[in-house]
Amino acid sequence: MNLLTISELTAATGLEESLIRFYESEYGEQLPEKILRGNGLFFQPQAVAVLQNLHARHGGGPVRDTSPVEGPAYARVIAVSSGKGGVGKSNLALNLAIEMQRFGQMSLVLDADLGMANIHLLAGIQPRNSLTDLIEAQLPISDLISEGPAGVGIVTGGSGVLALADSTAAQRRQMIAALEVMEKNAQVIIVDTAAGMGAGVRDFLKAADEIILVLTQDLTSLADAYGLLKSLRQEGCTKPVYSVVNMAASLQQAAAVAKRFTDCADRFLHSEVRNIGYIMRDSAVGAATASRTPLNIFAPQSRAGKNIRNIAAALLRRRDKKIRKSSAFQRYMKLVEG
Ligand SMILES: Nc1ncnc2c1ncn2[C@@H]1O[C@H](COP(=O)(O)OP(=O)(O)OP(=O)(O)O)[C@@H](O)[C@H]1O
Ligand SMILES: [Mg+2]
Repeated sequence: MNLLTISELTAATGLEESLIRFYESEYGEQLPEKILRGNGLFFQPQAVAVLQNLHARHGGGPVRDTSPVEGPAYARVIAVSSGKGGVGKSNLALNLAIEMQRFGQMSLVLDADLGMANIHLLAGIQPRNSLTDLIEAQLPISDLISEGPAGVGIVTGGSGVLALADSTAAQRRQMIAALEVMEKNAQVIIVDTAAGMGAGVRDFLKAADEIILVLTQDLTSLADAYGLLKSLRQEGCTKPVYSVVNMAASLQQAAAVAKRFTDCADRFLHSEVRNIGYIMRDSAVGAATASRTPLNIFAPQSRAGKNIRNIAAALLRRRDKKIRKSSAFQRYMKLVEG
């Protein structure tokens, strides 16, 4: 029997290593057991067909975006928001970036929560200079990006990033220039925003390529998310909006919450919201925070960790070639300047 190394398996299946790892973590029980030889684990040849079947079931196409983009390619900017606070935005934003990075996408998290920047706390790293510091002292962009877990970049917005409206034109240009450098150097930027309805947050959501609204089964969370969506649509925002149901007690509950929200959006706002995943309530989330390690590093096989990996995979399956052709932060500047 010819056992295969991971690179041989990659060649035999035509799948990226990160994708094979993803299928292993999700469907391990369907794959033939790995065999220990010497000091390494090897795949059995039957794994090739199993992986190809799994991949076909997942819609086939390559998950990694290797298609050439003409002209400057900007990152896909995904804003994570919610109507109500404390629903799990920051936890989702950071771990989504980690999983995107594992899927081969250069990812960066921008902490744009003015009140309580806490991505660095969740990531267990020291905060570096914020974007606001950049304006106060002339700093190179490289001084802003911290290397976080799994190699994701982490940037703290400081009080400035979503308060562009209150800054001078020169400060705005400086800030946008810094953000554009990041957009050209990453493939995905996940922006963790504050909850709520502030105009700064809404302008930012309108400029992003895609918006994730985090919901919980709590009625105020749903009502506030609905209010936010309604304002966005009334202000002419047509960007794709995805919902994610967090802290679900069961799959049935998650599905019911998602349906309630997407049905309301459809009926009352004629607005399509696609539910892109759910995250179970899981004590591993709190344990990860307590150990200052992101969930998907601390316990990648936890239920919530796997749920977030599935959301990353679902987002990567939905990619739109148009998205990376223009700068979200330039659009934001235009919105702010009216
Ligand atoms: N799936 C989950 N299971 C259990 N606890 C969770 C889950 N998701 C988040 N939490 C917990 O909920 C709390 C809020 O999470 P987080 O800080 O990510 O929310 P947030 O929406 O960013 O909050 P804020 O609006 O204050 O910025 C944290 O204590 C976190 O550990
Ligand atoms: Mg937060």
